[in-house]
Amino acid sequence: MKAVVLEDVGGPSCLKLVDRPDPVAGAGQVLVRLRAAALNYRDTLVTTGGYGSRQKKTDLIPLSDGAGEVVALGEGVTRFKPGQRVTVSFFQSWVGGQPTQELLDDDLGRAHDGTLCELQVFKETGLVLTPDALSDIEAASTPCAGLTAWTGIVSLGATQPGDVVLVQGTGGVSLFALQFAKLVGAEVIATSSSDAKLDRVRALGADHVINYVTDPDWGKTALGLTGGRGVDHVMEVGGAGTMKQSLRAIRPGGMISLVGVLAGARSDFLIPLIGSRNIRLQGVTVGTTGGLATMLRAMALHGTKPVIDQVFPMEKAREAYEHVMAGRHFGKVCIEIP
Ligand SMILES: NC(=O)c1ccc[n+]([C@@H]2O[C@H](COP(=O)([O-])OP(=O)(O)OC[C@H]3O[C@@H](n4cnc5c(N)ncnc54)[C@H](OP(=O)(O)O)[C@@H]3O)[C@@H](O)[C@H]2O)c1
Repeated sequence: MKAVVLEDVGGPSCLKLVDRPDPVAGAGQVLVRLRAAALNYRDTLVTTGGYGSRQKKTDLIPLSDGAGEVVALGEGVTRFKPGQRVTVSFFQSWVGGQPTQELLDDDLGRAHDGTLCELQVFKETGLVLTPDALSDIEAASTPCAGLTAWTGIVSLGATQPGDVVLVQGTGGVSLFALQFAKLVGAEVIATSSSDAKLDRVRALGADHVINYVTDPDWGKTALGLTGGRGVDHVMEVGGAGTMKQSLRAIRPGGMISLVGVLAGARSDFLIPLIGSRNIRLQGVTVGTTGGLATMLRAMALHGTKPVIDQVFPMEKAREAYEHVMAGRHFGKVCIEIP
């Protein structure tokens, strides 16, 4: 089979299209012919060894997101049949309930081979059926960014109709968060560095938009948009560089989903601003296979389609990475696997 392999951690130039032996499904595993994969910000970090000792540094098949169809079943597999369309879960063993470190270490495209290949074996616990309403490309774009947004907005955030949700920037996680917040009837404030992208998030349903470059005090602006009450929920993808503004925007008792560190990982925000105002800081780590199944069902029912920026052929995987690293995308960057 063909696979794209990260031969070394020297950036996307180390990605090579190679031939690899076809994998064979062992006990409890399912052999899947992948039709599509998708990139996330983390995948760009992997190319430069950003996860240090927590990642494989040579000959890694990268990417966690994928979709395709079942080819063969290993011993003891009962939940799937050959020919069924499936979507790959980010965590291969975390089906539901509370995480353990062991469950969180069982992800794809970091320490273990991932989805940028024609054939791959996955755990039975790490796959869900793809709804007919979604194409393979659409399904492949959901497991990491989509489920992170779903977990923050729906599973942990329990966002209610009428809540105000603030989403930062127009990356994969934030656009899904915007879509899911609208799906449950919330009001959405979206930020971006680009006025052109803000026009596009308005078209997706954002009720208010703020350019965080021309308005660096955007937290205060968001507070004003709620009449001084504050927003109920912030999807925090910026991290250190955005946290102070998020704390300005949030209402007492509101929740900040700590998702990303696009604007830095170390912060010196004032702890009393959280304790004295009952703010809930909630770490979000993608989510469970059960959550992925629920999210896909909801997307199918409501006709929610992922925002796809561009689809690259497998042999142009390197260009796909460079496209994400240049920050030119709006929505998901995907790879079609022949
Ligand atoms: N915890 C988890 O489970 C989890 C899961 C998925 C992702 N993440 C993390 O979440 C973050 C986003 O991931 P992603 O895949 O959505 O990334 P992405 O698609 O590459 O998002 C890039 C976008 O983020 C926006 N952005 C960059 N800096 C910003 C800032 N200072 N303030 C506001 N927006 C900013 C930009 O939007 P504009 O161009 O509109 O300005 C940019 O286009 C990353 O740090 C990633 O590692 C965490």
